[in-house]
Amino acid sequence: MRLWFRNARSPHVANRRLWDLEQSLWQWTRRDAWTLRNALEGTLILGATGSGKSSGSGRTLALAMLRAGFGGLVLTAKPDEARLWADYCREAGRSADLVTFNAQNEFRFNFLDHELQRAGSGAGLTENLVNLFATVLEVADRNTGGGSGREDEGYWKRANRQLCRNAVDALVLAKGRLTIPDLYRLVVSAPTSPEQFKSPEWKERSFCLHCLAEADKRPKSLAQQADFELVADYFMLEFPQLSDKTRSVIVSTFTSMVDVLNRGVLRELFCTSTNVQPEDAAQGRILVIDLPVKEFAEVGQFAQVLWKYAFQRTLERRSIADSPRPVFLWADEAQHFVTSYDMQFQTTCRAARVATVLLSQNYSNFVAALGGSEKGRAETDSLLANLNTKLLHANGDPVTNEWAAQLIGRSRQFLANSSSNQNPESLAMTSVGLHWPMPASSSSAGFSETYEYELQPREFSLLRTGGPANCGIVDAVLFQSGRIFQASGRTWLPVAFQQAAPNRHSKR
Ligand SMILES: Nc1ncnc2c1ncn2[C@@H]1O[C@H](COP(=O)(O)OP(=O)(O)OP(=O)(O)O)[C@@H](O)[C@H]1O
Ligand SMILES: [Mg+2]
Repeated sequence: MRLWFRNARSPHVANRRLWDLEQSLWQWTRRDAWTLRNALEGTLILGATGSGKSSGSGRTLALAMLRAGFGGLVLTAKPDEARLWADYCREAGRSADLVTFNAQNEFRFNFLDHELQRAGSGAGLTENLVNLFATVLEVADRNTGGGSGREDEGYWKRANRQLCRNAVDALVLAKGRLTIPDLYRLVVSAPTSPEQFKSPEWKERSFCLHCLAEADKRPKSLAQQADFELVADYFMLEFPQLSDKTRSVIVSTFTSMVDVLNRGVLRELFCTSTNVQPEDAAQGRILVIDLPVKEFAEVGQFAQVLWKYAFQRTLERRSIADSPRPVFLWADEAQHFVTSYDMQFQTTCRAARVATVLLSQNYSNFVAALGGSEKGRAETDSLLANLNTKLLHANGDPVTNEWAAQLIGRSRQFLANSSSNQNPESLAMTSVGLHWPMPASSSSAGFSETYEYELQPREFSLLRTGGPANCGIVDAVLFQSGRIFQASGRTWLPVAFQQAAPNRHSKR
């Protein structure tokens, strides 16, 4: 499998040596380019359902990056997205690089092994895994309506991380390896009361106790000995002393996540072997995670958030000198996949040469996905501020349109005004057809200066949305902070995209 993988490089990609940041990936106009540097600063595409995000700007940018030789990770929400990306790859001559990760294909990714075998993981291993589980749990938590917004949210998060950290350490110290079934067994067999230690029957059965005994016997470094003492104290003293209610919440939160990974399609895909991993994107593969949320619901969401996190961490650690190829992280219907970690990632991903592209309907989708309330809003603002290219399609959502108008900003505008006061006598003369001038008629005209939105919010509801009625033309307003476009002389530029010929997408 690996052999096939290495050999199957498209000639297009193999020949690509230089990654000049100023190279143009796409020309908005003859004089305004979307450069590699722009792509690495992140892209946000917003527009109402059916406004032409996917088939207009999305398709254009995807093809531009594929043609330039990017590797990438594609998260999917709709069932037809894998097919769409297969079409894109074909069109860009990149079919040989396409990896469709689903239950039907032979690709597998054992994320725990990947973490364990990663060079130089060392002491960071446990924390990396705890963070990975915490990220997946964040999604699980928000699906059940828990998590953000609760006053005691911080406590539960800390308690979950503590259980996770101790379970991972106990297993690594005892067995030197980690598996999802073992994690599950260890947590559900941990002592629930000090009395249990007196029961020979329980001692015989408890996998947790067996692990602690095995870890105790194994030779350990000084640091491992210190870790072991913390783990033993946690499971033998602290954990049994928790109130039943608290303990059951912590355990069930943890096991509900582990349980999903331990069953059906996810166990097969994530807990067996590894023949595809995030590093492959840096070699030019296009990894399409074909477990669409609309079909696989929460299972698909877990799987993709897991992939996204592993991908982000792996790419962040790569050495650009050794592995300079840019990669994209693509999420259409991005609200299903965003997590708090994305803000952090987005601040550093330019250096890691990751071009994030997020597509969604509106601003509020992100706020809701990030937990609502002020925290969700602050995280949304931070995330969106770090996606420098913004393509704003037709939208009827007042919040998004107001946000977009504010983003583009206000400028000094001159409003023309005029008024006239007619002398009644003059009016009377005019009405009988006499037009010579009469005194005492007054009129005035002038300009007033005001600071107004450059683009009024309502302008966004008037953009074309493609389809036969618009001859396949999709409009958008392009904005890049800190850039004046040559063609418009402004910070924003109206752009239009042509959808693909309809016969190529028979389903639409
Ligand atoms: N190749 C095509 N040719 C003509 N019309 C198309 C084509 N692809 C999509 N359309 C139509 O254009 C409109 C925009 O579709 P598109 O899927 O790009 O919207 P979207 O903004 O991604 O919507 P959503 O938020 O629902 O994903 C729809 O009415 C769709 O049916
Ligand atoms: Mg779409």
